[in-house]
Amino acid sequence: MNNNLNNINDKTKIKSNNNKKRKKIILVSLILLMLLIFLILFIFFINNNKETITNDNNQVENNKPLTELEKKLLELENINEKLDFFKEENIDRYIDYKNNNPNLDLEKVIVYVNIGLDQEFYSKSYPSPNQNTSKILTNKFYSLTEDYVPNDLETIDSNFSSGSKEMVKEAKDAFEKMAKDAKSEGYNIRAVSTYRSYEYQEKLYSNYVKADGVEKADTYSARAGSSEHQTGLAVDVDNITLSYTSFGKTKEYEWMQKNAYKYGFILRYTKEAEFITGYQEEPWHYRYVGTEISTYIQNNPMTYEEYFVRFLDK
Ligand code: DAL
Ligand code: ZN
Repeated sequence: MNNNLNNINDKTKIKSNNNKKRKKIILVSLILLMLLIFLILFIFFINNNKETITNDNNQVENNKPLTELEKKLLELENINEKLDFFKEENIDRYIDYKNNNPNLDLEKVIVYVNIGLDQEFYSKSYPSPNQNTSKILTNKFYSLTEDYVPNDLETIDSNFSSGSKEMVKEAKDAFEKMAKDAKSEGYNIRAVSTYRSYEYQEKLYSNYVKADGVEKADTYSARAGSSEHQTGLAVDVDNITLSYTSFGKTKEYEWMQKNAYKYGFILRYTKEAEFITGYQEEPWHYRYVGTEISTYIQNNPMTYEEYFVRFLDK
């Protein structure tokens, strides 16, 4: 009997022990499951966060949106790889110019800043690049010294000039050929102003200032050292019968529009480009740049400043 009781007791003990074990296993399993869920959630959260950072260009590592300025910097850096005239040292100026002209595309921003258009005309003065070549640039940022006189000035054939007028030989030869060809087709192209010395330009400009004041004079006359006429490569023309200021209304002007480039000349100051050149339009002022450049500009209209920045400013 006792033996039987003992047996029953043993069995109950074993059962209770088994129950305890099962409970422990369930508890440990639950804890492990919770840990696993926590781990999965943690990994999911980290990954999700990483994606927002990498997928969106407008987000930075701390997940804060980029400022407008930072976005532009990014864009500018991307353009850097495409445009070889991008200048690292001008980056702050590009950003400022873009901020002030938000509708301007970035390529133009870079060209205009390289020209210097983010600054006041005449606020900086550098020596004219490519001196004594047909690729010289003289304007309100790049100027010539008082003693700059171009090499090989020659007098133009008097059939094609009013009074004695000089130009650099290469430009003079091209001008005579152009005027001769025009004449043979019934058009009169005559040089009325060509090479002008620094001193001459100084007097001319100062007379205009006396008459009109600095602000107005600056829109149509160059300050001494800044006139293309001092390069010996510029020529103002008329058609003999009308004043040069009316040249834009003549059939000779139409002829020049079609043909001047064939001889290496470009119309230098156009209406559309007043903000680039700093001058009112001058349908009478032509500049010799050689046929390679004049042909390019004829096919891709732009100022000489833009051409210079894009292809010559290395
Ligand atoms: N009229 C032109 C801009 C000059 O003075 O050179
Ligand atoms: Zn001129």
